[in-house]
Amino acid sequence: MRMVDLIIKKREGNELTDEEIRFWIKGYTEGSIPDYQSSAMAMAILFKGMTKREIATLTDAMEYSGEVIDLSDIAGVKVDKHSTGGVGDKTSIVLGPMVAACGAKLAKMSGRGLGHTGGTLDKLESIPGMNIAKTKEEMVKQVNDIGIAIIGQTKSLVPADKKLYALRDVTGTVESIPLIAASVMSKKLASGTDAILLDVTVGEGAFMKNMESARELARTMVNIGKSLNRNTVAVLSDMSEPLGRAVGNSLEIKEAIASLQGNGPEDLMELCFTSGSIMLVQANICKTREEAKAKLKSVIEDGSAFEKLCQMVEAQGGDVDCIRHPEKFEVSSKAIEIRAEKTGYIKKCDALEIGVAAMKLGAGRETLEDKIDMSAGVYLTNKVGAYVEKGDLLCTAYTNKDNYEEAINQIKGAYEIVDEVVYAQPVIREIVD
Ligand code: URA
Repeated sequence: MRMVDLIIKKREGNELTDEEIRFWIKGYTEGSIPDYQSSAMAMAILFKGMTKREIATLTDAMEYSGEVIDLSDIAGVKVDKHSTGGVGDKTSIVLGPMVAACGAKLAKMSGRGLGHTGGTLDKLESIPGMNIAKTKEEMVKQVNDIGIAIIGQTKSLVPADKKLYALRDVTGTVESIPLIAASVMSKKLASGTDAILLDVTVGEGAFMKNMESARELARTMVNIGKSLNRNTVAVLSDMSEPLGRAVGNSLEIKEAIASLQGNGPEDLMELCFTSGSIMLVQANICKTREEAKAKLKSVIEDGSAFEKLCQMVEAQGGDVDCIRHPEKFEVSSKAIEIRAEKTGYIKKCDALEIGVAAMKLGAGRETLEDKIDMSAGVYLTNKVGAYVEKGDLLCTAYTNKDNYEEAINQIKGAYEIVDEVVYAQPVIREIVD
């Protein structure tokens, strides 16, 4: 078999056989198929798509490209969640402790941020001392002890995706439904969970820009999960503006702490209550989503969800004192206020523009080698739907850089203020199950 023939076959819109897909993934993982041929294949798939069978085979080939984790040493139903990425998305850090405080078992392997989207691991690492490099055995023990662990993906988990995702990121081939579906589901299946809650983001700051494509991605992933006997549900959530008010690593940890203490922003809490209620039903802890929502509210009110975060941080070597006293987090040397240039209603607070600006302020990486400034980012005082008067504070940009003009101009351009009343999109757009 020659890789060039498979590229041409897909380029012409033909269906690849199972053997051909496995040949590509095996060869690419082992190094016998070079990056340039894999990027040509990814581009052909982006343009020509894949059938259900091709997507199922691609997912399976990727899942088994490395270690497949067995979590059977953890008692009970294991639940996991995965977001397709966004700006200000600290959901796992709030939702994880919430569901664990209700008795669910969450053994989560997360990734890092790249480009304009943030990553849970980077956010957790802004907590001094926090260790995300635990072994599988340590993770299993931690979940058995306290119900939750969020760690980095082990090197041997889905190596095909590690290579392919990095390649797609620099070849303009991320936004392909078959490739995203196989990337997400191969990781979730290989990490050994019983039930999967998918958060499919939609809007300017997400890979799926409209409801139609988000729905198709959600349906594709739910079908893959179900066909392999994993209880899989997808929530379609709005990412036209950032989630919550904080964008940037330690800023987002501080917002997660406030959220677990009952002072979270409305959109973030709505997403956590809806996703969490689905997860508690998937874990057989509650019979209905309504009952689960009430349980989730109670663990915020009685402080047990916040204590669960403290337990997780302590178990992973992090400084719990910082969690109890978030004013101890380092702050950046510069805080630049951005104010409304006219009176009116905020129509737009573009998640992509804010995400890219936050990255330029130091909060994200342009390449995998870049070092992150944990204190950099943007705090949004006003978001879509708010009425502001000329001169009111829209947001504050935090940075340690001297050269920040470009990022500030980008943030200014992300906002649009109009005379007519504007209503923000509900954060939950749809549920696919
Ligand atoms: N998240 C993933 O894990 N993979 C993708 O391809 C896109 C988002």
